[in-house]
Amino acid sequence: MDLQLKGKVALITGGASGIGFAVAQTLANEGMSLLIADINAAAAEQAAARLSGDTKAVGIGVNISKEADVRMMIEIAKQRFGGVDAFINSAAVLDDKLFIESTEADWSRVMDVCLHGAMLCLHAVLPGMVERGYGRVVCLASDSARIGQARLSYYAAAKAGVIALIKSVAQEVGGNGVTLNVVSPGSTNTPMRVERERSLKEQMGDEKYARRVKAVQKLYPTGRLGEPEDIASAIAYLISDRASWVTGQVLSVNGGFVMP
Ligand SMILES: NC(=O)c1ccc[n+]([C@@H]2O[C@H](COP(=O)([O-])OP(=O)(O)OC[C@H]3O[C@@H](n4cnc5c(N)ncnc54)[C@H](O)[C@@H]3O)[C@@H](O)[C@H]2O)c1
Repeated sequence: MDLQLKGKVALITGGASGIGFAVAQTLANEGMSLLIADINAAAAEQAAARLSGDTKAVGIGVNISKEADVRMMIEIAKQRFGGVDAFINSAAVLDDKLFIESTEADWSRVMDVCLHGAMLCLHAVLPGMVERGYGRVVCLASDSARIGQARLSYYAAAKAGVIALIKSVAQEVGGNGVTLNVVSPGSTNTPMRVERERSLKEQMGDEKYARRVKAVQKLYPTGRLGEPEDIASAIAYLISDRASWVTGQVLSVNGGFVMP
């Protein structure tokens, strides 16, 4: 199926790593121009350099929880590409801790990036889309936001906020040709997951951790965890015109882990 994305412009936060980078690769293959924004400026530039060739890709350093950075990101998108057709918000941070052992500083760090950052980005990117009468937005959430997850309470709360934000804004701008959806991945093999598993192994010890790995595997009816490309394909569909009648939805791409 031709997704007819060729020549369009995508802005991807967190695009230097994991799911964000897989999205960038997939969209580059579809012939889209890319602005890759990541707090790790060097990695964003490297990612863009890897994908530049047939397609135009630019990498910039942006902290999505800083308003000035986000304004600069949208300005660069206008100057270098003439605007943004599709915005994908993949940037996030995770914290693996029991709620009663966490501090306000822990919650603030996660909320700042995962929820406040998403709001800053949407607030900055949407006016241009509304003005042009066209736009596609996909924000990454997590199934932890849909069913809850021990040790991920404030991350799950931030992602639940993202879901509510997207559903609400989708109602406000649907008449302007702008769709907004959420993709909610199950456990996906990215640097974020690898880091969480490393920390769990350290806390649990080898034997208990090995039992956990087996138990987690059993929770996936499809028999495997996710790869970043599994998530990227769903996002490519949602930002295409094939999905122009899909808005305000949460799509769990999770190998059947939960069926909320
Ligand atoms: N990997 C999983 O199992 C999984 C599961 C559910 C949801 N998710 C969600 O998918 C998205 C991508 O996760 P991933 O696994 O690819 O993570 P990742 O850690 O591999 O990539 C996240 C990227 O975001 C960047 N980033 C972090 N803070 C930033 C900030 N303030 N401003 C700009 N960039 C920032 C990081 O530098 C990194 O490049 C996230 O929103 C995450 O919450 C992932």
